Amino acid sequence: MINPATDRVLLTGAAGEIGKALRAGLRATYRYLRLTDLRAVDDLAANEEFVAADVGDRAAFAGMMAGVDALVHMTGAPAEHDLEALFQVNARGLYDVLETARLAGVKRIVYASSNHAFGCYPIDVPVSPAMPPRPDSMYGAFKVLGETMLRYYYDRHGISSVSLRIGTYRPLPIDQRSLATWLSPRDICQLVDLSLRHPDPGCLVVNGYSGNTRIKTADPGWAALGYVPLDNAEEHIPMLRQMGVDVDGPWEYLEHGGAFARQPEKAPGI
Ligand SMILES: NC(=O)c1ccc[n+]([C@@H]2O[C@H](COP(=O)([O-])OP(=O)(O)OC[C@H]3O[C@@H](n4cnc5c(N)ncnc54)[C@H](O)[C@@H]3O)[C@@H](O)[C@H]2O)c1
Repeated sequence: MINPATDRVLLTGAAGEIGKALRAGLRATYRYLRLTDLRAVDDLAANEEFVAADVGDRAAFAGMMAGVDALVHMTGAPAEHDLEALFQVNARGLYDVLETARLAGVKRIVYASSNHAFGCYPIDVPVSPAMPPRPDSMYGAFKVLGETMLRYYYDRHGISSVSLRIGTYRPLPIDQRSLATWLSPRDICQLVDLSLRHPDPGCLVVNGYSGNTRIKTADPGWAALGYVPLDNAEEHIPMLRQMGVDVDGPWEYLEHGGAFARQPEKAPGI
């Protein structure tokens, strides 16, 4: 269990969209926040420190893990990056970060996985994190690799973790699919906070959604965390209608991964 008053938390990807939301949501209660990203973070609060580093920089990560009790790993290369870039950040860099965390004695890890870890399930199958992964892309496959590595770190080294299969993180829902997959800023903060404070999550995988009425998940795994979402995409239907989003018609995508599940493969070697 992480104590926000005394334990130090390292947040990676701190300059990213989710990183910014987590800083805003957590810094009032988490007394010791260490932040890292390739990009600069320059609006530091008194209880935040920042170290600029590439995830592949083992020495930099070994240094910044000193005294860290929990890692919230939000660094990620987006799916549209080429395979080499995805590999460097979401596989090789992930290994470097997790391994430096293990060597430094980090007790708890919260990991940004993705709904693309199960994106090839047909949309009419109500999925749950207990079902075998079915990634819809190499991006999704690397997210599954991260979850699998965390299983290894728990079984072999007793490092407890929560993998959040994040859906569509945005300030507001943006399209029909996000009526099912939206994750709001205050709900990602809740999910991370609960994942850190939990007495013993083991090696947990849960869906990262708000409490959306149109969720297409049988059991998102939230009971184990005690997560009760604050937001629901349905409340934003009038805004979506105004934007011209088809909120009443048949579901646009045949698989959970949306467009990812039918995207043409990238050209060979890319
Ligand atoms: N936003 C979503 O809807 C969503 C959905 C599913 C999963 N996720 C995952 O959540 C995490 C955070 O997402 P986000 O929306 O904040 O993404 P983002 O792109 O806004 O932030 C990612 C951050 O990682 C940093 N980064 C990238 N490569 C790096 C490297 N080599 N070394 C150090 N830092 C590097 C970037 O500078 C960036 O600030 C990612 O792992 C992403 O895959 C996000």
